[in-house]
Amino acid sequence: MKKIVTVIGARPQFIKAAPVSREIAKHSQLHEVIVHTGQHYDSGMSKIFFDELEIPEPNYNLNAGSASHAKQTGEIMVELEKVLEKEKPDCVLIYGDTNSTLAGALAAAKLHIPIAHVEAGLRSFNMRMPEEINRIVADRLSTILFAPTKTAVQNLKKEGITEGVFKVGDVMYDVALMYKEKANHNSNILQNLNLKPKAYILATVHRAENTDNKERLESIFSALVQVSQEIPIVIPIHPRTKKMLSQFDLDHLLNPLTVITPVGFLDMISLESNAKLIITDSGGIQKEAYFHKVPCVTLRDETEWVETVEAGWNILPSTLSIKNIKSSIDNMIVPHDGKKNISEYGDGNSSTHITNLVNDCLQSKKGSKGLGD
Ligand code: UD1
Ligand code: UDP
Repeated sequence: MKKIVTVIGARPQFIKAAPVSREIAKHSQLHEVIVHTGQHYDSGMSKIFFDELEIPEPNYNLNAGSASHAKQTGEIMVELEKVLEKEKPDCVLIYGDTNSTLAGALAAAKLHIPIAHVEAGLRSFNMRMPEEINRIVADRLSTILFAPTKTAVQNLKKEGITEGVFKVGDVMYDVALMYKEKANHNSNILQNLNLKPKAYILATVHRAENTDNKERLESIFSALVQVSQEIPIVIPIHPRTKKMLSQFDLDHLLNPLTVITPVGFLDMISLESNAKLIITDSGGIQKEAYFHKVPCVTLRDETEWVETVEAGWNILPSTLSIKNIKSSIDNMIVPHDGKKNISEYGDGNSSTHITNLVNDCLQSKKGSKGLGD
């Protein structure tokens, strides 16, 4: 039996880990210990996902909470080191690009524990993004790299990382397929908010580069206010965005919008799949828009998920001025042909492939660099 310590702490990581944890639980040769770093801690940002996605209760909660980058990352590392020394796992499993990912990679690497990274090879080529720093370090330290797409594999290759790289598709596609039916039956969010299918826009904003810059934040929300005069806009608001709008005295821009607290995954699927258009700066939601075949406007200067743009489902305004955001929305909200399917995200079984590959690598100590003694 091989022991895996999974390190998760932020909302998208709970969602990505859910199908993989389920596969590990079914596997006769693997045992998982879940560590919640505590990076996200509000019930609507954390517990609801464990409940809805039936993720096992974490074995440890490091209760790191919110802080500056160094403090948050450092605190997770200090507490995680104790857990890793006690548990002595065969492998540490990390997801995505958050400070929890970085802390997991650094703590494991210093203890010479092999690291498996789900969502390896994503790049924005913007080193001002905390996520870009986290990903580059995590990939450099990882032994097994699960790249979702061809582009991700190529990005790793350009950095000289070719060993231990597996193209496995996207675990978020697995989850989207798994919960679509359940969301259709169980979510009442449209009725509760008095929304009609395909007659509203869903928006989410939380990226630091947007929330922490007053000019960008004001421009984004002013554009949303203008568009909301024509079609209702619902926005489940991230706590970071709520805090920054208030700090910059921009709360009034929320008044014309349907503002709700962050929602659980089932309500989110329902809001996404019934929206006429999605406007977001989220990594995960850009792809989910495609999974549910809803056009998307991404409020970023670049995207890691280039396939969504190439296939015509996603567009990035050339700058985040009110005028450019509005024209991207006008462009995407009218139905047009020519959108293509994306085969890159796999067959909905990425989590099975990941679990089997981790097991193969750990049992055989082959196919990956630096495994074992
Ligand atoms: C983090 C990730 C980001 C990811 C996002 C997913 C990093 C550097 N960023 O950003 O890549 O896209 O999660 O949502 O790891 N807060 C609460 N309650 C919570 C959590 C946060 O109120 O449960 C507030 C706090 O004021 C906190 C702020 O949100 O300071 C930011 O939280 P933090 O975890 O530092 O970063 P995110 O913006 O959530
Ligand atoms: N999500 C959710 N409820 C919300 C907002 C987002 O369930 O109120 C889900 C969303 O469907 C996706 C994931 O959270 O699966 C994306 O997380 P987020 O946007 O916070 O982070 P990112 O993907 O940008 O790292």
